[in-house]
Amino acid sequence: MNSNSLVSIADLSKDEILHILEQTRYFEEHPNHKILDGKVVATLFFEPSTRTRLSFETAANRLGARVIGFSDKGTTSTSKGETLKDTIKMVSNYVDLIIMRHYLEGAALYASEVTDIPVINAGDGSNQHPSQTMLDLYSIYKTQGTLDNLIITMVGDLKYGRTVHSLLMAMRFFNPTFNFVACNELRMPDEYTNFCDKHGIRYNVSHDFSSEIINSSDIIYMTRVQRERFTDIMEYEKVKDLYNLNNAMLADSKDNLRILHPLPRINEINPDVDDNPKAYYFQQARNGLFTRQALICNALGIDILNR
Ligand code: CP
Repeated sequence: MNSNSLVSIADLSKDEILHILEQTRYFEEHPNHKILDGKVVATLFFEPSTRTRLSFETAANRLGARVIGFSDKGTTSTSKGETLKDTIKMVSNYVDLIIMRHYLEGAALYASEVTDIPVINAGDGSNQHPSQTMLDLYSIYKTQGTLDNLIITMVGDLKYGRTVHSLLMAMRFFNPTFNFVACNELRMPDEYTNFCDKHGIRYNVSHDFSSEIINSSDIIYMTRVQRERFTDIMEYEKVKDLYNLNNAMLADSKDNLRILHPLPRINEINPDVDDNPKAYYFQQARNGLFTRQALICNALGIDILNR
């Protein structure tokens, strides 16, 4: 396993997180920086993506690297029965870095263990999405001026939502208070509430997305109910429309409140929120480009601030 791999957000210390955020700020100010001339990056997407794949590929291009890869596993030899291990070993012959999204929890860890080149986890099932977390942290820092002592409300699919799982773990360094708003079927798994207990993180659990919760929040992190994670479509139909945020609900919210969402959204944020200055989800996705420039450099052992 290459020590520069990023499989879980838990791989990063507080200092490493803060340093990546500084590097991200550098790339926001200098997005075209051709320091990866001669490097080749692979993006292997076994699961659909718009933002993560395109922002990683744009990041690599803006850094001067070349990109190979696939966005449809049906066009690869996986469809002939080639194993993940063999696919990773083959691609490792060609490139300097693998960025991989896979539908199975643990696939990124497994991939990182069968190759000597660095692997960045671009999402593994409902487990982890560490690059999303880094752009979420950057977005929180940019909008709040701090990561410390914030009230963060997570809403929707807290069971399968890998973005909320990763963000919760990263926030352990910053003394947050969480509100977990979800129906019973999609509540935050015990693994993560136990994590909060172990790290002294305060959290409240609620089925009700109440005005009291909205008006006390610094960050509201909306999530999509992920149809693709359900084995029983009737279960999905039962819970898919339970939590919707509209503009009127923000009338008495705090001035510093920002609405985040990893996207894509379905109907959990009404389009009438989009023009509210507290809506930040499109800028959040833009921040993903600069964050992923920093993460690619990190994985390749390049520190843009100390060259
Ligand atoms: N946030 C996110 O992972 O979006 P994509 O699925 O479009 O990559």
